[in-house]
Amino acid sequence: MLEPPQTPVARVPVIEVRNLHKKYGPVDVLKGVDFSVTAGEVKVVLGPSGSGKSTMLRLMALLEPLDKGSILLNGHQIGVNSQGKPANERTLSHQRADIGMVFQKFNLFAHLTALQNVVLAQRLTRKISKAEATHNAAEILKRVGLGAHGHKFPSELSGGQQQRVAIARAMVLNPAVMLFDEPTSALDPELVNDVLTVMETLASEGMTMVVVTHEMRFARRAATEVALFDRGIIIEQAPPARFFDDPQHERTRQFLSHIH
Ligand SMILES: Nc1ncnc2c1ncn2[C@@H]1O[C@H](COP(=O)(O)OP(=O)(O)O)[C@@H](O)[C@H]1O
Ligand SMILES: [Mg+2]
Repeated sequence: MLEPPQTPVARVPVIEVRNLHKKYGPVDVLKGVDFSVTAGEVKVVLGPSGSGKSTMLRLMALLEPLDKGSILLNGHQIGVNSQGKPANERTLSHQRADIGMVFQKFNLFAHLTALQNVVLAQRLTRKISKAEATHNAAEILKRVGLGAHGHKFPSELSGGQQQRVAIARAMVLNPAVMLFDEPTSALDPELVNDVLTVMETLASEGMTMVVVTHEMRFARRAATEVALFDRGIIIEQAPPARFFDDPQHERTRQFLSHIH
């Protein structure tokens, strides 16, 4: 008997940007970026300072409007309303709830405990009881290794612990994708590994992630693909073994020679 034909399942990216352009004043910061992440992928973005990495993440997270191009979440364009016009603030905040973002600076509320920070994130975006939000917050703090620290204020936590609260605060909303913008760059060196370990755990559990970082060990261990950004475009993108050991572009070789 004949086997039924195998229909290839089209893998719609969780998040995708197409031909993304952004200027600040006269400066072309993004010059036509195409970038996508499918479910469970971890894309690490490398590149020199000022090349547009943070700008791409902020646009993907709908924190700023784009000039040209489009952003799709699970195949649906976001940042626009049903008529294709720029979305109003209410629509934007609804669409943003699916995209978690973690910044270099943790931006926790100083007057709230770790637990209260994670509770508040849910109460601001979801209609959910305080009891349920508190339960979720306690669970997620356990997952980032802070089960015993929920009652502490940010000033009582190390930078690495604060960043893990910030990760918990984003994760508790069950985002479709997590964007990390140099999450360990503001940390003392001895605190970096705790944060990277939590991120590697999320990755191994199947979280879809985009990570801008200078941590090459993380890129090698956790990335499904590594992309090099330079002056507003992506130069090269490849699985880590090929990206690091057999880069195809001179610009990539040059960049890697500076970090080794
Ligand atoms: N809000 C802004 N206003 C004006 N210029 C900006 C703004 N944000 C970023 N830029 C400029 O855009 C360029 C890219 O910045 P950024 O995306 O932060 O790069 P990266 O994250 O790769 O270091 C830089 O030249 C930066 O000065
Ligand atoms: Mg940046």
